[in-house]
Amino acid sequence: MEKHIVILPGDGIGPEVTKAAKGVLETVAAKFGHNFTFETHEIGGAAIDNQGTPLPEDTVAACRKADGILLGAVGGPKWDDLPGHMRPEKGLLGIRKQLGLFANLRPVKGFDALLHASPLKPEVVGDSDLLIVRELTGGLYFGEPSERRNNGQDVVDTLAYSRSEIERIVDQSFKSAKVRRNKLTSVDKANVLESSRMWREVVEEKKQEHPDVEVEHMLVDAAAMKLVTNPGYFDVIVTENMFGDILSDEASVLTGSLGMLPSASIRQDGLGLYEPVHGSAPDIAGQNKANPLATILSAAMMLRHSFNMSVEADEIESAVQSVLNDKYHTADLKVKDGTQVSGSELAEKVSEQMTSNDTTDDIMRCYA
Ligand code: IPM
Ligand code: MG
Repeated sequence: MEKHIVILPGDGIGPEVTKAAKGVLETVAAKFGHNFTFETHEIGGAAIDNQGTPLPEDTVAACRKADGILLGAVGGPKWDDLPGHMRPEKGLLGIRKQLGLFANLRPVKGFDALLHASPLKPEVVGDSDLLIVRELTGGLYFGEPSERRNNGQDVVDTLAYSRSEIERIVDQSFKSAKVRRNKLTSVDKANVLESSRMWREVVEEKKQEHPDVEVEHMLVDAAAMKLVTNPGYFDVIVTENMFGDILSDEASVLTGSLGMLPSASIRQDGLGLYEPVHGSAPDIAGQNKANPLATILSAAMMLRHSFNMSVEADEIESAVQSVLNDKYHTADLKVKDGTQVSGSELAEKVSEQMTSNDTTDDIMRCYA
């Protein structure tokens, strides 16, 4: 298959982790006979420095034409003092919004080799395997107006949704629940917010279409608590943009490392932007220390969600698992008695694992 991939390296460690993931995608292409072409564009701080805006028009135009988009990370102290509309983060928020990537999927699953590094006891975190479906293009992040008033003495941010925006993210969450364990927890603050009450109504309506899915509602504060006391309780969580931002960071550390978690931001026609959940880590940028696995796993999500290549995606995921079981790791990962390697070496280990692993049977099953 031919696929065109736009890479947005961004800032900090973004360039090195996307380069590592590109190498793994090339390995996949060679092994499975695909033709992946790549094009790189600026976003975030790099784009501010070189083009005077966090989201240049040619970046948006290239992404619109792509089959999939792989992003590294944006931001860093260098741009922290810029006004809100000129911050690197505006590039990321802008591309999500302009492309209509309303569904953010953040799976959280532990790797055995890392569970000992979780802040939770192994018996609490052990069986956790959950997916946060975060609404990404509305809610508190995109309310209008968002402004200072009364000579700067008052401020307003609004949490706005249309019913159709809630419906499409709830539909996506049911879709996700059905390919997992058929359990959906809708997280809101319906005891306080009108928008949450409408959210609940939509979930109640939609659940009639999915009698096979167990549905419950949970207040966001209670959900935050439950995530650390009993993460194994959850299967799919669906929630508003800001709630999802906060809960996904909380969930991301459960498994022992933020450096392992991928994400997908998708829309109904399958186009998606794939990025690690971690940030740009400017303190270690350019030293080949950064852990590329979250970006590599994000590339696997691209294969699965945008290209319909689930065998190839499985292959990347099991190669990552094997490399960790062989105790190779970057400095951020606490692997007992392991071999510490650089970011690029770790990515090469993943590629080597795939090359040495004969999956002819899988390929025949998939393409027969
Ligand atoms: C994330 C990040 C972004 C967000 C920032 C960088 C704007 O925290 O992807 O979770 O808040 O959405
Ligand atoms: Mg976040």
